[in-house]
Amino acid sequence: MENFQFCISTNVLFGKDQIENLPNIVSSYGKRILLVYGGGSIKRTGIYETIKSLLAQYEIHELGGIAPNPRIENVYEGVRICKQQSIDIILAVGGGSVIDCSKVIAAASCTEIDAWQMIINRMPVSEALPICAIPTIAATGSETDAGAVISNLATNEKRSFFSPNIMPKVAIIDPTYTFSVPAAQTAAGAADILSHLFEQYFVPQSTFMGDLLVESVIKTIIKYTPTAMAEPENYEARAQLLWGSAIADNATLCNGNKLCPFGVHGMEHELSAYYDIIHGVGLAILTPRWMRHVLSDATVERFARFAQNIWDIACSDDKYEMANQGIIATERFFKSIGIPMTLSELGIGCEHFEEMANHAVETEGLLYAYVPLTKNDVITIYKNSL
Ligand code: NZQ
Ligand code: ZN
Repeated sequence: MENFQFCISTNVLFGKDQIENLPNIVSSYGKRILLVYGGGSIKRTGIYETIKSLLAQYEIHELGGIAPNPRIENVYEGVRICKQQSIDIILAVGGGSVIDCSKVIAAASCTEIDAWQMIINRMPVSEALPICAIPTIAATGSETDAGAVISNLATNEKRSFFSPNIMPKVAIIDPTYTFSVPAAQTAAGAADILSHLFEQYFVPQSTFMGDLLVESVIKTIIKYTPTAMAEPENYEARAQLLWGSAIADNATLCNGNKLCPFGVHGMEHELSAYYDIIHGVGLAILTPRWMRHVLSDATVERFARFAQNIWDIACSDDKYEMANQGIIATERFFKSIGIPMTLSELGIGCEHFEEMANHAVETEGLLYAYVPLTKNDVITIYKNSL
């Protein structure tokens, strides 16, 4: 096992009606709240009204309209409000985009450093405003992790940022808040969760326990995604997906494994930076192409195990056959939940592949991925995804 430090400092309140604890939570941080949310789903579902009435005694400032693939301009606006209004706590209610945006606002509000410079130079965060995150979709797990991803459309850049100090202090995770997530967005969220798990499963060295933990969550997502899509108000299915997303990417499962940069994520971030597509859809399209590209004598045992343990492919002496069957099953699963499985279906052509590949290799550490990816590898994977 590799050495590791494990500190998940988020206090999680999971389950129906946990929102009733919100006034207690907020009161320990102060009176002035910045409520951050997206394009309006929280108003349609009634969460907005519930929060406003629970916090009627507090001073609430609002930053709505956070777009999927949140923009640096959203961050600047939030920082301006936090500084002007001396905000005590940020309440982030929505998907990963809302929570990620809130994390960078929290950090940039405690410094004079420009938020975009902070992100691209990966500056350490010594202080940040506290965040209470209320996720409304099972996808990124941003409510319990230390990462944030922000886009700068002016420069076609989408960059990740990490600090333990931007991890939410509290997460209220209520599966009923995800009942209204449309089927296509549920599928995209599931693809994102699966990709987080794959990125930690296909690693240079793993542990017995790490492998079994990751496999169990992968199987859970595969089992419950179709149920949640067919029966949007199935509490158990939504709960399994939501808790699965929260633990998929915050080191709970993979401590002791030898982790490395997330290769498929690195390639996908370029797709959403240039074409503003849904993160999970980009990942689903790239994943089987990446798997085929990196399948070799060095990786075939791993892919054969994946095929057998995840997709129940019969064990045989022909490990390549097993591995290929596993990749086909992965691709079929994504198709079965309705994800468009080619870049062409999203209107993406090959015009920017060269610069996207260059950028992915430079900024996302792809040369240190499970199987190192050069610029030419990335271009080939993009082309095979058209
Ligand atoms: O904006 P609203 O109206 O809320 O609608 C959203 C949005 O259109 C909708 N939605 C969310 N909850 C809903 C709902 N619609 C109906 N009912 C609900 N209960 O879903 C749409 C997508 O929202 P978004 O927040 O963009 O989705 P997601 O959670 O998938 O977040 C994606 C972003 O997170 C980044 C991605 O790159 C992308 O920018 N990531 C963040 C990570 C992290 N923090 O650790 C890691 C990931 O790998 C990822 O890169
Ligand atoms: Zn992701």
